[in-house]
Amino acid sequence: MDRQSAEKRVHELHELLNQYNYEYHVLDKPSVPDSEYDQLLRELIELEDQFPELRTADSPSQRVGGTILDAFEKVEHRSQMLSLGNAFNEQDLRDFDRRVRQAVGDDFSYVCELKIDGLAVSLRYENGAFVQGATRGDGSIGEDITANLKTIRSIPLKIKEPLSFEVRGEAFMPKRSFEALNKVKEEKGEEPFANPRNAAAGSLRQLDPKIAASRNLDIFLYALADIGDTGIDSHSEGLNRLDHLGFKTNPERKRCADIEEVLQYVESWTERRPDLSYDIDGIVIKVDSLDQQKALGTTAKSPRWAIAFKFPAEEVVTILKHIELSVGRTGVVTPTAILDPVRVAGTTVQRASLHNEDLIREKDIKIGDHVVIKKAGDIIPEVVNVLEDQRTGEEKEFSMPTHCPECESELVRLEGEVALRCINPKCPAQIREGLIHFVSRNAMNIDGLGEKVISQLFREQLIVDVADLYKLERDQLLQLERMGEKSVDNLLQAIEASKSNSLEKLLFGLGIRHVGAKAAKTLAQEFDSMDKLMSVSKEELTNINEIGEKMGDAIVAYFENDEVKELVEELKEAGVNMVYKGPKPVSASEADSYFAGKTIVLTGKIEQLSRNEAKEKIEMLGGKVTGSVSKKTDLVIAGEDAGSKLKKANELDIEVWDEDKLMEELNR
Ligand code: IVH
Repeated sequence: MDRQSAEKRVHELHELLNQYNYEYHVLDKPSVPDSEYDQLLRELIELEDQFPELRTADSPSQRVGGTILDAFEKVEHRSQMLSLGNAFNEQDLRDFDRRVRQAVGDDFSYVCELKIDGLAVSLRYENGAFVQGATRGDGSIGEDITANLKTIRSIPLKIKEPLSFEVRGEAFMPKRSFEALNKVKEEKGEEPFANPRNAAAGSLRQLDPKIAASRNLDIFLYALADIGDTGIDSHSEGLNRLDHLGFKTNPERKRCADIEEVLQYVESWTERRPDLSYDIDGIVIKVDSLDQQKALGTTAKSPRWAIAFKFPAEEVVTILKHIELSVGRTGVVTPTAILDPVRVAGTTVQRASLHNEDLIREKDIKIGDHVVIKKAGDIIPEVVNVLEDQRTGEEKEFSMPTHCPECESELVRLEGEVALRCINPKCPAQIREGLIHFVSRNAMNIDGLGEKVISQLFREQLIVDVADLYKLERDQLLQLERMGEKSVDNLLQAIEASKSNSLEKLLFGLGIRHVGAKAAKTLAQEFDSMDKLMSVSKEELTNINEIGEKMGDAIVAYFENDEVKELVEELKEAGVNMVYKGPKPVSASEADSYFAGKTIVLTGKIEQLSRNEAKEKIEMLGGKVTGSVSKKTDLVIAGEDAGSKLKKANELDIEVWDEDKLMEELNR
């Protein structure tokens, strides 16, 4: 075949294969037998072998899994991938409903969806072609798993309209594929996956896309992002749009007029859950109108317009064999129950934290007891209670030690605390845990440095403090157990990359008492550099809204310490970045802004900013943005085509600004 006819045929094959694929995997209505599909795919692959320049990234041939990767690249999400707040019972749902009604009034509806138990992913389309797919990661930065996602047949590689946008959803492994996969694994003598979620996540985290291709993964999409103006007003319209574009959405969704209908939906699916061909772990409830979603806004982590109802956790009985002690980063000694291994909610559990001595007393836990176990939030194993009627009299009382199990210094109980602490700053357990924290995802995010490697490095005295991480040499790492050339190179690269992290990551990683990830970000934003932060007074710190007395004291005390000063110096010398690199608040300061303390409503179309950006900027200047105009509203900003809200503002004699005035104040 000549080049020109080949090109034409390749084009036809794309169209046909995409169509058959869509019918089979999205609509579940195949129009041709599998053998015909396979034959056409083979034809395409042959043509592409003959004319390699015809093999494009969106070719259906890419679904079989191509080149093996060295590592996953990081991907910055264009807009944050939020998670959801949880509800565990009817009351939590009614409370959510009350909060929604308080904010937007009674005139709204909900959409209920199944909460698919898989892995959140974001798919990016440019001019109608699937170009990049990523994991959620920490919500801002995920990993590029495009090649693996292309193997999911229900993800269209090309859609009919040349649109650019992101679409988000949950990739999962159907129950049947999971069972078949585990059967094969067991036959081969390999460790089976604990549950379909782990199997899906494990498959998508393989560097060889052929593995994902063999795993029969599937996806349901549930949100459009960054699509610009579409004329879509509600979440349910958005889902219908996704359907029309050729995406697979979950058919069990339902619009509910009020919370009573929501509760019925929840109850019905709690019962019907086992009948589904895939795992769900709850129900997601979303406010339907996009305007009302905007009015409700989000907290740092999750939207106020949605909530996840989590199904109650499975409970099982096992025997508590003994209680182990461990010393954490802050010196707290934690008792952990060591259990007879037992399956619960899909995984085998053999440990459960008992938190502190008070809890052991409260639940009257003894060694040898029959205990009821569940997984809180379906993840963290916990002892629910003891079955006292199963006692034989052989059970043994447990008491906490008086000395640190790791360094043997005397333990103390600080006033007002239930925990016992080791207060020896040189306690090796605390140092080791501090190192583990430093490299963790929300801190310096150094991939390849898990607990095991850190413990080894520490044991071999290759690292004593966090600055030593930056002095590690290739030869030293090669001597560690299970570290090949490739892992060592990747690790060194990850360490190098962490040097350019923005300041808040370092601040959080240092593990200053009371300073969590959010406070670290605030500090970095406010003070810009480590040098500045090291010299601020407690007053300057507590002047900031989110920083209280306790944290202020802890920060000042931390930076007064000579060893800390030395450590910072060493990190600086190693080339670790000490300045904030994230977005800055707008120029005018909160105190002198017109918006400070005012309640503001945005309505109509604003040209130069998205509604969300305008809201964020106003909030950063101390204003509160709400959804509806009332006597409490101080200011209405009316863009083009403003309607009823503007009318109401005029009736109530509320100040009204146009877009130009808004921009002038924002840029002041
Ligand atoms: S909506 C901003 N809908 O549950 C709202 N999430 O924490 C984003 N999930 O990470 C989530 N099914 O991976 C939504 N129908 C559904 C879902 C769903 C599963 C997952 C998602 C998210 C987590 C919630």
